[in-house]
Amino acid sequence: MISCRERLSQQPFSYGPRNCLGKNLAYHKMRIILSKILVNFDIGLLPESEGWTNQEVYTLWQKHPLLCKLKPIR
Ligand code: HEM
Repeated sequence: MISCRERLSQQPFSYGPRNCLGKNLAYHKMRIILSKILVNFDIGLLPESEGWTNQEVYTLWQKHPLLCKLKPIR
């Protein structure tokens, strides 16, 4: 079953009977890493990355670096 965090058009873990065996572990680890970053840092976008969402997609998605500054909260 496809949960709300997954879009039908985006299947980074593939799909069907041979999809990624580590998918749930990978989501779990990604949630923990993201939570730790959000809890411990104030995150700001650097000027170089203004308009980062204007990305080019021609079959493949060309993503530019997302430059941020992280300030430790304590
Ligand atoms: C962001 C993290 C990950 C992504 C994007 C990812 C993606 C994928 C994809 C696309 C496949 C299918 C490959 C194919 O069609 O041949 C695959 C297969 C597989 N992945 Fe992952 N994977 C990730 C993390 C993991 C982790 C953490 C583990 C194990 C701890 C894992 C174990 C496997 C295994 C065993 C298969 C083969 C499944 C089979 O052939 O039945 N993956 N993965």
